[in-house]
Amino acid sequence: MTHPVPQPRKVPFLGNLTSIDREAPTNSYMLLYQQYGEIFRLDLIGRTVVVISSYNLLHEVCDDKRFSKAVVAHLKEIGGLVHDGLFTAQTEDKNWGIAHRLLMPVFGAAAIRDMFPAMEDIISQLVNKWERFGPEYLIDPARDYTKLTLDAISLASMSYRMNSFYSEDMVPFVAAMNRFLSESQLRSNRPRLATAAMISTQAQFEADAKLMTDIAKSIVQKRKANPTAPGAHNDLLDRMLTAVDTKSGEKMSDDSIVDNLITFLIAGHETTSAMLTFVTYEVLKHPEVLLKLRAEIDEVLGDRMVSLEDLPKMPYTLAVMRETLRLRPPASTRSVHPKEATTLGNGKYFVTLEDNILVNVTQVHRDPEVWGDDGDLFKPERMLDGKFEALPPNAWHPFGFGLRACIGRGFALQEAQMAVATIFQRFDLVFDDPSYTLRLKQTVTIKPVGFYIRAYPRNRSA
Ligand code: HEM
Repeated sequence: MTHPVPQPRKVPFLGNLTSIDREAPTNSYMLLYQQYGEIFRLDLIGRTVVVISSYNLLHEVCDDKRFSKAVVAHLKEIGGLVHDGLFTAQTEDKNWGIAHRLLMPVFGAAAIRDMFPAMEDIISQLVNKWERFGPEYLIDPARDYTKLTLDAISLASMSYRMNSFYSEDMVPFVAAMNRFLSESQLRSNRPRLATAAMISTQAQFEADAKLMTDIAKSIVQKRKANPTAPGAHNDLLDRMLTAVDTKSGEKMSDDSIVDNLITFLIAGHETTSAMLTFVTYEVLKHPEVLLKLRAEIDEVLGDRMVSLEDLPKMPYTLAVMRETLRLRPPASTRSVHPKEATTLGNGKYFVTLEDNILVNVTQVHRDPEVWGDDGDLFKPERMLDGKFEALPPNAWHPFGFGLRACIGRGFALQEAQMAVATIFQRFDLVFDDPSYTLRLKQTVTIKPVGFYIRAYPRNRSA
């Protein structure tokens, strides 16, 4: 027998919109979960969303045969810029299929190892900056990590230097991307008429999209005119220009290449930067974790720079990253829709074709059934000694699942492990305000607000 899906009381015209915190919707899903449990329905002006927050329900919607990715409102807004790029396309779009088949090997293990020098180059720019500015300099980690991740993906994907560390202000591409992403999020929760009336916001949104597209197009055109330019071999752009899809016999069109280059920048920088920011926060909040992390890094690296061979020798560093991604998944929600009307919870709840199912990943990652009663606590040990590998399928879920899982997972993990090892090898980091407690802001990802640190270069001989 099916049960009705619980729903908070609606307000005339606005439905449940007033239950959602516009700065960080994920906070509202967590609060509503406390009240309504593993599943509840929200009416968001013409859209119904079914929010699920338990492992069992998540595991059920991971079935690619019954459910597929829903390109929800804020992704549609981003899709206005990158069209059917990998992140924003429908799974049925022809260009998604071509790009997916061509790009999967491009992000394979061997290719990512080849990107080590690009990552190392940019990480050393961050280290130089923090060393030269010293502890007097107030660091906004989310801002500097965003410079790091954006410059790294840009250099590795198209041999293009954003040079974000050489300017205190955001470089034009990055400023445009930041404004564009935050406006995409806001307009997805704003009535269309209100957006249409905001003439200067609309003009800025269009100008930002144009600026990013123009830069990406000019990079592609320059590369086509000069395919053997120094450094221009074997990056993602080179592979996109030359590879042929064995299934369709087609190459990627120039437009699809431009859309996917911008997609990598969007999908690849904020997520990884949020992960690094949360790692920093959690490690500073847990001095016992810092001690163990330090001990491992010092033992493996000593005074040397990190190399590719070092990475598998640092399991505790990886466990700290995995535990951070569990407790604070940067992509804190994802959406799917049923391919046909169906039930969830072993026949308990009915969902229709019109329902988008939003996975509240932050709560699923704390489900006591999988993580025990201390799922709210940060404990890297739960990712060590075979425990990570023994988790039930889909229990650890920061990179999505199935066909539409993250293509950049290996890239992000390699880059982040190199960065974490290098940063904690070289610096003693401290909270600027030791009483700081976490507050969140959400655009495509969640990230801390008001979190500042100071970096003391380490004197390991002392
Ligand atoms: C998709 C998370 C890093 C490129 C996704 C999805 C998640 C995710 C959850 C699925 C989204 C959905 O179902 O709607 C993350 C996290 C990262 C990260 C947590 C870092 C910690 C990266 C990087 C890149 C990247 C570094 C590129 C270099 C993509 C792309 C997709 C995607 C292109 C769409 C794949 C498709 O649908 O075919 N990511 N990501 N991501 N990610 Fe990532």
